[in-house]
Amino acid sequence: MLAPVILAASRSDKMRRFISAAPGTKQVVDRFIAGETVEQVVPIIKDAAGKGLEVTLDVVGEDITTPEQATAARDAYLELIDRLKDLGLGTRAEMSVKLSMFGQALEGGHEMALANVRPVVEAAAAIGTTVTLDAEDHTTLDSMFAIHEELRKDYPQTGCVIQAYLFRTEEDARRLAAAGSRVRIVKGAYKEPASVAYQDKAEIDKAYVRILKILMDGEGYPMIGSHDPRLIAISQELARKAGRKLDEYEFQMLYGIRSDEHVRLAAEGHRMRVYTAYGTDWYGYFMRRLAEKPANLLFFARSILTK
Ligand code: FDA
Repeated sequence: MLAPVILAASRSDKMRRFISAAPGTKQVVDRFIAGETVEQVVPIIKDAAGKGLEVTLDVVGEDITTPEQATAARDAYLELIDRLKDLGLGTRAEMSVKLSMFGQALEGGHEMALANVRPVVEAAAAIGTTVTLDAEDHTTLDSMFAIHEELRKDYPQTGCVIQAYLFRTEEDARRLAAAGSRVRIVKGAYKEPASVAYQDKAEIDKAYVRILKILMDGEGYPMIGSHDPRLIAISQELARKAGRKLDEYEFQMLYGIRSDEHVRLAAEGHRMRVYTAYGTDWYGYFMRRLAEKPANLLFFARSILTK
């Protein structure tokens, strides 16, 4: 199985240096990363809006090592929000953030991450949009949910992500499926031990459906983060059974993956949001995309070898 090896490499500095410098890498990275700067990503946001798509913007970066990097992450999001203000898209352009990029893993990291993310959530609210807290590895989640709860006291529209592969998630879903909440359900992209997570693809899919049902039957706003055609069809069926209208849930997919499906679902009248990652610190994000589909790795290896 290649995925665990790639996910282990995603945490290795040696591999980071090797892969970042390899000729041919950029060509493959460009499939998943929308650009390096805000200026490069703005035309992509406008293009998506023109096609009836919504976006959630991720300034790539995670596992930082100094408080200065954490404040730089905050500032990068504030710069983005300043630029979004001119576009006037409201919630059609929202933000996704990883708390590890805001200092969560450093000493005093819980407070540091909260202090750094709060101004971002505040600035987003000031231009009429929202922020969603991404889910990282399982050791970070109690802190993430506590920060989510704290932010929701002032900004109840702040969203969070739950991962179907974790045993804990059905319980988290029940707690979160309350009025006013915004919850993205995904399969889960990190290397997790068998003590906390399902390892088998079929088990993860079954858990995804159980959790989706909790969210659809609840009072919150479910955000279905998946490219899996079977899960998308099941989501539509569960939404119909729960009596939800088309604007009472949304689909989300990643930039560069199944782009035709983005447009098809939007054309059917669904809310479709494209998770659009940009920036220079793309290594961890890119490696998780390689791990999700072995064919990506072959394509990547070929592009390195032919350079
Ligand atoms: P699955 O992996 O079964 O893929 C279904 C089909 O989609 C594949 O057969 C293939 O055609 C296509 N596909 C999927 N991934 C691909 C790839 N990398 N390259 C090419 N094709 C691919 N995870 C997490 O742990 N925390 C988070 O916060 C998030 N956030 C997030 C936001 C959004 C909007 C999405 C869509 C996903 C995430 N994820 C995530 C990632 C998620 O956990 C999961 O790893 C991927 O979505 C892949 O799972 P699928 O549900 O797409 O199914």
